[in-house]
Amino acid sequence: MARQHKSRLLVTGGAGFIGSNFVHYWAKKYPQDRIVVLDALTYAGNLQNLQALLEQDRIRFVKGDICDQALVESILTEEALNLIVHFAAESHVDRSILGPDAFLETNIQGTHSMLKAARKVWLENPVVRDHHRFHHVSTDEVYGSLGATDPAFTETTPYAPNSPYAASKAASDHLVRAYHHTYGLEVTTSNCSNNYGPYHFPEKLIPLALLHMLLGKSVPIYGDGLNIRDWLFVEDHCRGIELVITEGNVGDTYNIGGNCERTNIDLIQTLCNLVDQAFQAKPELAQKYPDSPSATGSGAASLIRYVKDRPGHDRRYAIDARKIFHELGYRPTHSLETGLAQTVHWYLDNESWWKAVMDGSYSRWMDQQYGTAK
Ligand code: NAD
Ligand code: TYD
Repeated sequence: MARQHKSRLLVTGGAGFIGSNFVHYWAKKYPQDRIVVLDALTYAGNLQNLQALLEQDRIRFVKGDICDQALVESILTEEALNLIVHFAAESHVDRSILGPDAFLETNIQGTHSMLKAARKVWLENPVVRDHHRFHHVSTDEVYGSLGATDPAFTETTPYAPNSPYAASKAASDHLVRAYHHTYGLEVTTSNCSNNYGPYHFPEKLIPLALLHMLLGKSVPIYGDGLNIRDWLFVEDHCRGIELVITEGNVGDTYNIGGNCERTNIDLIQTLCNLVDQAFQAKPELAQKYPDSPSATGSGAASLIRYVKDRPGHDRRYAIDARKIFHELGYRPTHSLETGLAQTVHWYLDNESWWKAVMDGSYSRWMDQQYGTAK
């Protein structure tokens, strides 16, 4: 979808972690574009993530469910939208293990409902028939788990999802592919590795560990801590999605990653060092967070606790991103160290954001996980 025209976007899940980062990224880069966000505001959706853009009237927000096909059709029609960037999903593996149903509903039925709406509005309308795009945001978890010496996932690695979350995302990927093949809907899909950065809900490893380091709560590491994930700063993911939308081949899938594999324990050690350094550089942090071991000199790493492993915990993910590198010239701009440092500073500068989140559904989740808010 070459950018000869202004785009008019529907961003689903735009009040969540990656979706809101994408909305900020796109609104800054393409200020002339119309952006409508559709989000059900589940526990993971947060209008604070979009506050500045909402206050400036730069975007329209619609609270609603992607399973509501009639609503999606009416938004696409009344706003004359020609681009869908589909982030909305249930996204946390641990929640999918405790309760898979919501994952099947939102990730499979919801994606299907989005595809049906796009097909109806776009393919039956000669004006947008040849000028539309449905971009589906997916994950590397659809490919399953790698052994220590296996080659990284490419776009042709067979799907082998292991968690209910991964299985539901795999099913949604197949539906997107089928709507292209069968009906000619112009789709692209991206499968990305683990993201981190601003607005990340603190049920996920990096923000959970970081906030626990500030508050002097234990940092739970599942199993032996040697599971490997491939980390990408969220803005680099947004840049990859932009490239796929603007330059990618219709019908293709692209893996997005930054060659950044780390064991969980190495990652958390790096984060501990960054938090300790932040406290050394700013003595006022010790007053603000007196329960943090970084304040008392014992060091954030003293909070690490090995806990019971996640059932079916995938051992290793790694993305081979050569296709997007070579075909679209993609390059991530952050190393893990610069991205993590930026993330630590964002959380230090945005205490009111995470305090509000932690006072809400987060504490109920921790109670459910560990029996007590840690
Ligand atoms: P998130 O959980 O932070 O946000 C999901 C958003 O979707 C929330 O705002 C939520 O309110 C909204 N939502 C959920 N159900 C909805 C429904 N039925 N209707 C409308 N809105 C609904 O998730 P995230 O981490 O930002 O992930 C976004 C997308 O990126 C997901 O599709 C996920 O599979 C994919 N992804 C995530 C990662 C990662 O590391 N987080 C990596 C690769 C791909
Ligand atoms: P997570 O952020 O949940 O992402 P995903 O499971 O989708 O990769 O977890 C990242 C890794 O960190 C994963 O191997 C599980 C592990 N983990 C912990 O060790 N402790 C935790 O408290 C959490 C949430 C995750």
